[in-house]
Amino acid sequence: MENYSKANILILNLIISIFQLQVHSSHAIPNQDVSYMKFVHNATDLPRKEEFDYIIIGGGTAGCPLATTLSSKFSVLLLERGSDPNKYPSVLNEQGLLKAFDTEDDGKTPFQHFVSEDGVENIRGRVLGGGSMVNAGFYSRAHKEFFESAGVDWDMELVEKAYEWVEESVVSQPILKDWQSAFRSALLEGGIVPDNGFDLRHLVGTKTGGSIIDDKGNRHGAVELLNKADPKNLKVAIEATVRRILFSDLSANGVSYLDSKGKLHTAFIHEKGEIFLSAGAIGSPQLLLLSGIGPKSHLSSLKLPVVLHQPHVGQSMTDNPRFGTNIILPFQVVPTSGKVVGILQDNIYFQSIASPSPFLVPPTFSLLPPHPTSINPTLAIFFGKFSEVHSKGSLKLNSSIDVKKSPIVQFNYYSHPDDLARCVKGVRKLGDVFKTPTLEKIKTQNLKGNKGFMFLGLPLPGNLWNDSAVEEYCKKTVATYWHYHGGCLVGKVVDGNYKVIETENLRVVDGSTFSVSPGTNPMATLMMLGR
Ligand SMILES: Cc1cc2nc3c(=O)[nH]c(=O)nc-3n(C[C@H](O)[C@H](O)[C@H](O)COP(=O)(O)OP(=O)(O)OC[C@H]3O[C@@H](n4cnc5c(N)ncnc54)[C@H](O)[C@@H]3O)c2cc1C
Ligand SMILES: *[C@@H]1O[C@H](CO)[C@@H](O)[C@H](O)[C@H]1NC(C)=O
Ligand SMILES: *[C@@H]1O[C@H](CO)[C@@H](O)[C@H](O)[C@H]1NC(C)=O
Ligand SMILES: *[C@@H]1O[C@H](CO)[C@@H](O)[C@H](O)[C@H]1NC(C)=O
Repeated sequence: MENYSKANILILNLIISIFQLQVHSSHAIPNQDVSYMKFVHNATDLPRKEEFDYIIIGGGTAGCPLATTLSSKFSVLLLERGSDPNKYPSVLNEQGLLKAFDTEDDGKTPFQHFVSEDGVENIRGRVLGGGSMVNAGFYSRAHKEFFESAGVDWDMELVEKAYEWVEESVVSQPILKDWQSAFRSALLEGGIVPDNGFDLRHLVGTKTGGSIIDDKGNRHGAVELLNKADPKNLKVAIEATVRRILFSDLSANGVSYLDSKGKLHTAFIHEKGEIFLSAGAIGSPQLLLLSGIGPKSHLSSLKLPVVLHQPHVGQSMTDNPRFGTNIILPFQVVPTSGKVVGILQDNIYFQSIASPSPFLVPPTFSLLPPHPTSINPTLAIFFGKFSEVHSKGSLKLNSSIDVKKSPIVQFNYYSHPDDLARCVKGVRKLGDVFKTPTLEKIKTQNLKGNKGFMFLGLPLPGNLWNDSAVEEYCKKTVATYWHYHGGCLVGKVVDGNYKVIETENLRVVDGSTFSVSPGTNPMATLMMLGR
């Protein structure tokens, strides 16, 4: 990544400390329906050996609705390495969230930090509810072509019903406050039309999407989908870290997991039962590898016994690069996560958040403003993404024993020229949005009396028609949109019914199976898939 000078770091620290002074000390009063807590257990309280019809590894975005669905007919154990989200009021509340990313990772916070080999900072959920408890909450269904892509024979009626099942419980229509309204106007003025009002579907134009964060700022994550479970049939264990899946030949028959005291437990499945891996795009390929399913050469180099040579496990790791820029606003706005999106023809799209904290700014502070005009500045952060990424990478284990150690992930951002071309197109469009009357209002006068945006980090390139300048900008400012996926693709690692190819009683249901990030934001489709 870029070098930046000590002076800039000092200025940055100063700005961060100013930001931190105004952190809301509001104690979020949990306003979530926590009835699921009656069947949530601390793994330390569970027996050393148990049997169920189904075992689900990972109580995340897809894992929670999956557990609820199976519990209507079967006995289910859901194992989650993270803790109870109610322990972290900051993640249950929109204002708290915008701040919480800054927290140090002590191995216990709901945010697990990781840095890919590309040098890009990233985050994984480590809490019951998974990514849906730490994300920005934007809810939007998949684009049509997602269901046409090879591999899965979707029953579109069931898909529709499953989305609705999710939406009736956790999704609401946001009321736009100052910043999201302004951003919406700017998108429309910048030519991202038509105005599609409020819509959960993926449509070209500008729309207000759904949100799992309600108007009071309370999050309704995947955990609340557990409220619909049959409590007699579902047991959820938290602080239960699965070490490996157990096999008899090629049939999965159980799992071994650690509780927070480091004690080992095993759980087995009944005959005709199954194990579901829903540990996310990093966790699922990692667990398959630790369990002996993966490329033989990699497993052997770590002295792991090979259950099945499967060259595709951990391959096609993909992250949607985030492009965009950050502007210090010359006036106060209510901090907000993204509620509005502008979508272009080829699935390039834009969102914006207003944040009191610069946590989202990639470390390329080469052009800091001389001084913030206000002592309580808010940053407007403009994001762009494209759904279909051609640059692929891979995931390897960093430890053959310790599942808590993050695997080594490389995404190879912009290694494919099509991705760079999409970014260039996106940045150029952002340039149009920046020329609108609405965004004119966030310009300030500098010491020489010229009007301009107060960028934090690199400003947009001066000449947006110079391809190489924009390409350079894309590469220099690359960050994550947190929609990383792949590692256990449909058609490669799992079949069209999400069964791990060549094995018995084992499926993968989560973002690791995606070859493309669905629609604008993947959470809706992951919840639908779990259902
Ligand atoms: C900062 C951020 C902002 C985002 N914003 C949005 C947004 O606004 N809208 C949107 O649609 N998407 C957003 N996303 C993306 C979205 O949240 C994720 O794509 C989605 O949550 C992934 O779901 P999943 O089921 O694949 O995995 P997860 O939800 O991550 O679930 C995996 C679960 O498995 C657990 N696990 C992993 N390993 C083990 C193990 N060994 N033993 C036991 N448990 C284990 C994890 O702790 C986790 O709870 C965002 C993501 C982030 C990080
Ligand atoms: C689970 O129990 C262990 C041991 O008593 C304790 O250290 C841990 O904090 C408990 N976790 C939760 C979420 O209660
Ligand atoms: C684990 O990662 C560290 C740091 O990146 C590296 O030095 C070490 O060689 C890796 N170990 C394995 C087994 O890959
Ligand atoms: C385009 O940008 C590149 C890279 O910044 C620069 O070297 C080149 O001179 C620019 N070309 C024009 C015509 O401005």
